[in-house]
Amino acid sequence: MPRLAFISFLLACSTSINAAVLNTRQSDSNATTTVTISQRDVDPAARKKEVAYRHDNFLYNVSQIGNAAAFPMGKIGEERVALAWDQWQVDRNIITADIQKDIAQIKQAIIANNGTLKTLDDYATVLYKDQWLNASPLKPALGSLTNYTLDSFFGGERLVRPYSLYKATDKDAKLIDISDEEAKKIAGSTVAELLSANRLFAVDHTYQADQSTYVPSQFNDKYGPPASALFYLDDKNDLLPLGIRTNVGANLTYTPLDEGNDWLLAKIMFNVADQFHNQIYHLTATHNVGEALHEAAMRTLSDKHPVMAVLDRLNYQAYSSRPVGEALCFNPMGHWDENFHISQIGCRNFVTKHWPTFGAFEPNYLQTDLQSRGLVDESGKSPFKQFPFWDDSSEIVRIQREFFTSFIDTYYKSDHDVAADHEVCAWFKEVRRGPTGPEVEGQGLTPVASFPEKATKKVLIDVLTHNAWLQVAHHSLNAGDPVRSSLTLPFHPGGLYKPVPEAKGVESIVPFLPNATASITYIGFLASFNRPRYRTMDPPRTLAHAYSGTEFLARFAEKEVHNAADKYLEAMSNLGAKNDARKIEENGMCTEQGIPFCWTALNPSYIPWFFSV
Ligand SMILES: [Fe+2]
Repeated sequence: MPRLAFISFLLACSTSINAAVLNTRQSDSNATTTVTISQRDVDPAARKKEVAYRHDNFLYNVSQIGNAAAFPMGKIGEERVALAWDQWQVDRNIITADIQKDIAQIKQAIIANNGTLKTLDDYATVLYKDQWLNASPLKPALGSLTNYTLDSFFGGERLVRPYSLYKATDKDAKLIDISDEEAKKIAGSTVAELLSANRLFAVDHTYQADQSTYVPSQFNDKYGPPASALFYLDDKNDLLPLGIRTNVGANLTYTPLDEGNDWLLAKIMFNVADQFHNQIYHLTATHNVGEALHEAAMRTLSDKHPVMAVLDRLNYQAYSSRPVGEALCFNPMGHWDENFHISQIGCRNFVTKHWPTFGAFEPNYLQTDLQSRGLVDESGKSPFKQFPFWDDSSEIVRIQREFFTSFIDTYYKSDHDVAADHEVCAWFKEVRRGPTGPEVEGQGLTPVASFPEKATKKVLIDVLTHNAWLQVAHHSLNAGDPVRSSLTLPFHPGGLYKPVPEAKGVESIVPFLPNATASITYIGFLASFNRPRYRTMDPPRTLAHAYSGTEFLARFAEKEVHNAADKYLEAMSNLGAKNDARKIEENGMCTEQGIPFCWTALNPSYIPWFFSV
């Protein structure tokens, strides 16, 4: 049976597909074996016809979950979307069954604890000790449930999730309300002195104060301040908090000089604002950009193009994310509204508002982005004692760049060769022009901003490397990290369950936290993004194995690509082994990370190579 007909048959008669089909590539057009660039195709007429067919049958529909990338439609587009949904459904069924088993067990633990969570320790122990082992067998990240009250933990979290962190400038000195005397007690210097010594850093989530845009959850039971915070480098270059301001109601500034409960609550309140930012940033900056590039490629590149083969590989299951989000997460009163304080409407507005910036291409290259915020310099050196996010991510990007350099060198001897590849030229043009058609015009969709104008060898390597990095960046924010680290309780609730205090002196933090039932719902929801089975599959569906599947490699006749894939697998596996070996050392800090918890979110031997939901 021809391949397309076979897939259509499967889609027509089943809601889920078997594991064998899951491992096939995502081609739709023909039974292509090996790839070749357009100018070397022995049958250019047939190829032209094939590209025209793809162009006419992969169309742009309105965006989903805010206005960012268009969504596929047309015959091929709809088939891709249906296939992706079915691929996700298999994973979903497995993780849901695991979560149900875990929830049955954790309910018993809560009953044994008198049916409630009375203390902060109850959150860390009853909710997690020997729990969630089916859905999250790697258990919570080391230190995450025991060291969260430390200021070095809170500062360290900025260095593993630095999405909003930047080096402070003059205007940031007033971001919190702190006297010279207080600052000196905490940091040994005034804010002005820290600023002029380049030792002051900031996070500012005041934009969340606009409740007409960041509409509160329709459950009306959760709260969160649009917090801002200043951080400073101490004399050992550790990043520590100077203070947090709520920017709402009494507009209190909290500092480490406050009573323990007040200060801990302030950090929890900051986390509520920060995690909204991070989670919806991930939707804007990773999924949408990756999909936009793939969509443009589907309309301009032949299925036989080597770049198409890579994009298809990386976009396995990609078109399930937004429909699943629409149906199950960001639907009115859905999982998002149930668990987080800013509503799904606020999420959509965030995506629309920030698509031109967080979705921009070149400004978000890993180093370019961090450099623009003063977190690394042009040589890649950071001001921090250690910068775990940069250490892991820059190494991953280096390995990706090495692979794509060999890959592009294999197919193009010169920039002239790239310029002569009319499919690549059309792809660049299509990405820059953005989606067209009556469906998207009414929605006013805009293209991915700042995509390079002209393809050269270097630019192609940059583009493929950044596109591949986006898949990885995704997993530093979504997938397995929230359940194990970034959103563990009690330090990272989805919202406060009592209004932001109007005065200091809270007696207990527990009333601000989700109760036992809401905590289980929250952790269960976070666990649904985890894909622990991927690393045990054969072959594993992990980042390390991105380019080493036999079916993928069968498409490349050139031994250079096979060699590059082997090298990539080895280098990524080495990083994975290093990641696996992290532990809390005798000094209380994680191995080579300098923070009191182990950040392992970017483990190439665990995270998928593609966007999982
Ligand atoms: Fe995601």
